[in-house]
Amino acid sequence: MKVVRLGEGDAGRLLAASELFDAPPVGEAVWAYLADERNVVFLAVDSGRAVGFLRGTALNQIASARPQMFLYEIDVAPTHRRRGAGRALVRALLAYCRRHGFEEVFVFTDPANAAAVGLYRSTGAVTETVADRMFVYPLTRRPAGSRSVSGQSRAARRRRGDERGKPAQASSP
Ligand SMILES: CC(C)(COP(=O)(O)OP(=O)(O)OC[C@H]1O[C@@H](n2cnc3c(N)ncnc32)[C@H](O)[C@@H]1OP(=O)(O)O)[C@@H](O)C(=O)NCCC(=O)NCCS
Repeated sequence: MKVVRLGEGDAGRLLAASELFDAPPVGEAVWAYLADERNVVFLAVDSGRAVGFLRGTALNQIASARPQMFLYEIDVAPTHRRRGAGRALVRALLAYCRRHGFEEVFVFTDPANAAAVGLYRSTGAVTETVADRMFVYPLTRRPAGSRSVSGQSRAARRRRGDERGKPAQASSP
């Protein structure tokens, strides 16, 4: 099993893996999606066949020059689950984000989704509370005091509204 990143011009490869997606991909939209450099798509390929995918979108921030990655969707074919494909896809995204200076990767899931929760926790994601829907992979060291006890970043807490109303703090690039 290997993981490959799709780039502009790889629409055919993504369309050939249509059965992996809940909502069937449409040609024109796929072309535009892959042409947008904020979007990142990885395929897990086994014996030449796509058996899983992950897609995410980079988001700019206003309190940091570092972008965040929103892990939007990950799915592995039922026939290939529990063989390490999900972990390989997440690791490929984390490596990509570290190389490109991302502050963090975040993903939402239903806390009752044991497979997703197990995958995210086992690859380093943290949550504020056990029942939290948002899992965060902090990727950069922040100045002392900028992380909560659980390790979540200031950006993550801002999204949750914990710092609403407080003046924005300057951040180092
Ligand atoms: C979540 C999903 C992507 C995991 O993919 P996968 O290829 O089966 O995961 P891996 O084999 O890489 O497993 C990595 C780790 O995740 C955890 N894990 C995976 N499946 C699990 C399950 N059914 N129950 C509990 N933990 C699980 C384990 O810690 C596992 O490590 P281990 O096998 O060494 O114990 C897959 O189950 C899936 O496609 N589910 C349907 C779509 C979905 O729910 N996506 C997430 C939406 S947010």
